[in-house]
Amino acid sequence: HGDFSQKIDYVFKIVLIGDSAVGKSQLLARFSRNDFSLDSKATIGVEFQTKTIVIDHKNVKAQIWDTAGQERYRAVTSAYYRGAVGAMLVYDITVRQSFDHIARWLEELRGHADNNIVIMLIGNKSDLDSQREVSTEDAKEFAEREGLFFMETSALEATNVEPAFVTILTEIY
Ligand code: GTP
Ligand code: MG
Repeated sequence: HGDFSQKIDYVFKIVLIGDSAVGKSQLLARFSRNDFSLDSKATIGVEFQTKTIVIDHKNVKAQIWDTAGQERYRAVTSAYYRGAVGAMLVYDITVRQSFDHIARWLEELRGHADNNIVIMLIGNKSDLDSQREVSTEDAKEFAEREGLFFMETSALEATNVEPAFVTILTEIY
């Protein structure tokens, strides 16, 4: 075997946050391994995955951190946000409450993260449009007001998952 290890030009830490069951872990599984599970277990503590993509001829390694939406299972807050240059704030388009809680997640994020962190609002489960409780317009308006990027995704159907991560990584870069 030769040495096929690739040279990494940048490592960017990205954190996933949002209520329990919105699909944070499955978005990460889809992006990092092109995998998806319908009987995904709630995350306990913190997990992370990496994926390297090429931006502008540079190898950019995304180190994506995923913690529990449930308070009792969450990682230590300050350690979780430390060094993060990007954040995905995830809600479920079929659960209004998960969108209403975004303001609180944003407050926690802004209280702990670096000032120039790139933040993307993600409305996940776009495959369940018939059960939608959050309109695209409401979310778009919120994102604009708060200066966030915004996309709707489906981890199940693999819709917009790669574009969402690539957009945030490109903005960081
Ligand atoms: P915590 O770890 O508790 O914070 O939850 P989480 O946000 O990581 O949610 P998780 O990824 O475990 O997904 C919760 C449930 O939603 C699982 O049953 C997933 O299969 C399902 N799910 C995730 N993404 C999608 C999606 O895009 N569409 C549909 N229909 N279901 C999804
Ligand atoms: Mg999880």
